[in-house]
Amino acid sequence: MSFTADRLLLFGATGDLAQRMLLPSLFALDADDLLAPGLKIIGTARSSMSDSEYRNFARAALEKYLPADRRGRMAEFLNRLSYQTLDATTLEGYDDLAKKVGTPQNGLAIFLSTAPSLFEPTIKGLQSAGLTGENVRMCLEKPLGTDLATSCEINDAVAEAFPEDRIFRIDHYLGKETVQNLLALRFANIMFEPLWNAAHIDHVQITVAETVGLEGRVAFYDDAGAIRDMVQNHMLQLLALVAMEPPAHFDATAVRDEKVKVLRALRPVQPAQTVTGQYRAGAIGGNAVPGYDEELGKPSDTETFVAIKAHVDNWRWKGVPFYLRTGKRMPKRVTEIVIQFACVPHSIFEGKGATMQPNRLVIGIQPEENITLSLMAKVPGLDREGIRLRSVPLNIAMPDVFSGAVRRIAYERLLLDLVEGDQTLFVRRDEVEAQWEWIDAIRAGWKADDVTPKTYTAGSWGPSAAIALAERDGVTWHE
Ligand code: BG6
Repeated sequence: MSFTADRLLLFGATGDLAQRMLLPSLFALDADDLLAPGLKIIGTARSSMSDSEYRNFARAALEKYLPADRRGRMAEFLNRLSYQTLDATTLEGYDDLAKKVGTPQNGLAIFLSTAPSLFEPTIKGLQSAGLTGENVRMCLEKPLGTDLATSCEINDAVAEAFPEDRIFRIDHYLGKETVQNLLALRFANIMFEPLWNAAHIDHVQITVAETVGLEGRVAFYDDAGAIRDMVQNHMLQLLALVAMEPPAHFDATAVRDEKVKVLRALRPVQPAQTVTGQYRAGAIGGNAVPGYDEELGKPSDTETFVAIKAHVDNWRWKGVPFYLRTGKRMPKRVTEIVIQFACVPHSIFEGKGATMQPNRLVIGIQPEENITLSLMAKVPGLDREGIRLRSVPLNIAMPDVFSGAVRRIAYERLLLDLVEGDQTLFVRRDEVEAQWEWIDAIRAGWKADDVTPKTYTAGSWGPSAAIALAERDGVTWHE
C-alpha cells in the first residue's frame, strides 16, 4: 500500500544506531526539506525519559555525530521528537505507546533497532495496541537471526502481523551511493553489459576491509564472526548486484527478483575454498593495537577475517570465481569491487616486445568513491625496436565529478524510502533466506572439518593462506 508516513516510531531510540546514524540521518533529511512538515518522530526505549529529556539526548547525539557543516536548524527538528518509555517485553505499555503515536493521517513507519530477541514480543505488543494495521509498515535492522532457522523464526513472527510488502529489511550497504551507482554503471551504459559475463571476465574480487576491531561489541561480535556479520548480508548483496541479470525496471520487485536468482545460484563452498583468520596484536597507521583475544579478554574461535572463493553457477558466470574477503584490523579501510577482464584473444603486438595486461574495472565504494578502468595505451616514443604498452587508468572520482553534491549517510536514503514506501533498496525475505542457506552450509563445513581461524597480525591483509587462496589460481588480490 502506498503512503507517505507521517509518524515514525523508533524502537531502540536511545541505542548506538539511533545516536550515530538514525537521528543524524533524519536531521539531515529535515535540513534539506525532505521530510514532510507534519512528520512526527516518536522514540521509545526502556530508559525513563520525558519528551524534553529525549530532545536533549538527541541534541547531544547530533552534536557528537553530525559533521559540523551539516548542523543548523536544530530546534525545528527536535520539535518533531517525542518519547515514550516502554518495556518491550510486556504487553502493558503498548496502549500508552499507541496514545503517544496518536492517529496518523496517512500512516506509520516503525523502525525496530533492538535486539532480535525483542522482535517477537514487540510485534505482539504492537498487535495488541492496534499498531499493525494496513497503514503501518515495519522496518527491521540486523542481525536478523544467526542462521536460516532463527532467521525464519523472526520472519515468521513479523509475517504474523505484516505482509511482505510492508516489511523493510535494512542492509545499510544498499543505501550507499556508490553501491547504487553500480547499477547505473551496469545498466545506464551500453559498453559494459556485452562484456559482463564469463566470456570476457576472468574473475571478480570484493573486498570489505576495516581498520576497527571489536569496538566494544564484545558479546555480539564474538557470537557472529566475520562471515555472519559481513558476508551473509553486505558482501552477498554486493555480489548479487554485480552478478544479477538486468532487471526490467528499477523497482522493488524487478531488482529483487534478479538478486535472489543469483543468491540461489551460489555454489556450495567447501572449507578448502575458504580461509578464516583472527587478528593478533599489531599496528595500524603506526598505532599499536591489541589482539582480538586481548580485546575480548579470553581465547575464542571466532573469525575476524574470512576469504571465500565463490561461484555463481549459471549461464552468465560459469567458471568465473568471485573472491570475497573481509576483515577487521586490516591495514586500511577500503570497500571495493574489482572486475578483472580477460586477456585479448590474440595480441597483434606479440614479437614487438609489448607486454599486455587485461583491462580491470575497480569500483571504489569507500572511503573513496571512484571508478577506475585500466586501459592499455602505447607509451609515447619512436620505438624502433618494438612497441611499449602500459596500463593507464581512466579515473572517475565521484566527488570531483559531482562536486557540491552532499555526501549522505546510507541511512538517509533508506529512512526516506521507508517513510515514502519504496522497498527497492530493502532486502526481501527470499533473499535473506538464500543468503543464510549458503552461509549455513559453509559454517557446517567448518564445523565438520574442525576449522579454526589462523592468526594474522593486526595491520596485515589477513593470514597468508588468503593470499594463497587467490594465487593458486594465478590471481593477486587488488591492494
Ligand atoms: C555492520 C557490521 O553491519 O557494518 C560492523 O556489524 C561493520 O561490524 C559495519 O563495522 C561496517 O559498515 P560500514 O558502513 O562502516 O562499512
